[in-house]
Amino acid sequence: MSRILLLLLLVSSQLLFAAEEEREIILQLPPASLEKWYKPANERDVWLHTMFRLRREMQAVSEYAALEDVGLLKKWLARLKKDYQSIGEMVPEWKDELENELLEKMSMAAEHGELEKLQTLQRKLGKSCQSCHVEYKLSAVLRYRAPDFSSAVVESEETMEEEKYSRVMSRFTLLVNRIKIASEDRRADAAMTALDDLQQRLHDLGGSCSSCHKQERQRRYILGQQMQDSLDKVREGIKKDDAKQVGRYIGKFAVDVCASCHAIHRMQSDLRGLLSNE
Ligand code: HEC
Ligand code: HEC
Ligand code: HEC
Repeated sequence: MSRILLLLLLVSSQLLFAAEEEREIILQLPPASLEKWYKPANERDVWLHTMFRLRREMQAVSEYAALEDVGLLKKWLARLKKDYQSIGEMVPEWKDELENELLEKMSMAAEHGELEKLQTLQRKLGKSCQSCHVEYKLSAVLRYRAPDFSSAVVESEETMEEEKYSRVMSRFTLLVNRIKIASEDRRADAAMTALDDLQQRLHDLGGSCSSCHKQERQRRYILGQQMQDSLDKVREGIKKDDAKQVGRYIGKFAVDVCASCHAIHRMQSDLRGLLSNE
C-alpha cells in the first residue's frame, strides 16, 4: 500500500516538474462592459471607486460587529449591500457570480443581533470578493488603467508635425548613440549638432505629457533641472574635447531620463497593448 503511495508521489512530482519547465500563465480578460466604468469612456474610474467603498464598508461592518454597535453596523451593512449589488448592475456578465443571499443572511443576523453568525457570513463574502480578484484584478488594471501610448503623439515645435511615440523614441536612441560615437572620435561638430537636436526633441516630448497629466509636476520630475544639468555637462565635455565627461553624463542622462520614464510607463503600456489586441 505504502509503495503505491510512494509511486504516486513520485509520478506526481515528475508531473509537477514537467509542468514547471514550460509554464503558461492564462490571464482571463474581464467582460467588455467593464470598460464603461473607466476613463476615458467614463468621467471617473467609477468601478475602482466602488471597490474602494466596498473595502471601507467591509471594514466598518466588521469593526461595529466587534464593538457590538448594531445601529451603526446596520447603517454600513445597507451601504455594503447597495454597492455590492451595483457590481451586477454595472457588469451584467458578473451578476450570477454574486453572493447576494449572503448579504440577505447578514442583514437577518444583524436584525436578530446574532453577531457571531454575521461575522462568519462576512468571512464567506470576503472569500467571494477574493475569487473574483484572483481571476480578473490584474487584467482589469492592465487593460483599463495602464497608460495607453499606442495613439500618443509628440508635436514638433519646428515643423508643427505630429509624430508617434515609437518614432520619436527610435530617434532618441539614434541621437544618444551619435553623441557618444562622435565625441569618442573627436568629431565635435557632429556631436554638438546631435545634442542640439536631442534637446529640441526633449522639449517637444515635454509638450506631450499634458495629454495625460494635468499638472506640471510629472514633466519637471523627469525632464526638469536634473536633466538639464547633465546635458550641460555633456555640452561642456564636447567643447573641451573630453569624451570621458561626455560618456559619463550622457550615461547619467540616459538613466535619469530615459530609464526612469520607461520604468514608469513602458512595460505597463506594452502589457496593455498585449491585452487590448483583439
Ligand atoms: C465580480 C468581480 C468582483 C467582485 C465580486 C469584487 N471585486 Fe473588487 N475588484 C474587481 C476588479 C476587476 C478590480 C480591479 C479594479 C482596478 O484596480 O482597476 C477590483 C479591485 C478591488 C479593490 C482595489 C484593490 C487595490 O488594488 O487596491 C478593492 C479594495 C476591492 N476590489 C474590494 C472588493 C471587495 C471588498 C469586494 C467584496 C465585498 C469586491 N471587491 C468584490 C472585481 C471584483
Ligand atoms: C498616455 C498617457 C501618458 C502620457 C502621454 C504620459 N504619462 Fe506619465 N503616467 C501615465 C499614467 C497612467 C501614470 C500612472 C498614474 C498614476 O498611477 O498616478 C503615469 C505616471 C507618471 C509618473 C509617476 C507618477 C506621478 O504622478 O508622479 C511620472 C513622473 C510621469 N508619469 C511622467 C510623465 C512625463 C514626464 C511624461 C511626458 C514626457 C508623461 N508622464 C506622459 C500616463 C501618461
Ligand atoms: C514619456 C517618457 C519617456 C521618455 C523620457 C523616454 N521614453 Fe522611450 N519610450 C517611452 C514609451 C511610453 C515607450 C513605448 C512606446 C510605444 O509603446 O509606442 C518607449 C519606447 C522606447 C523605445 C522602443 C521604441 C519602439 O520602437 O517601440 C526606445 C528605443 C526608447 N523608448 C528609447 C528612449 C531613449 C533613448 C530615451 C532617452 C533619450 C527615451 N526613450 C526617453 C517613454 C519614454
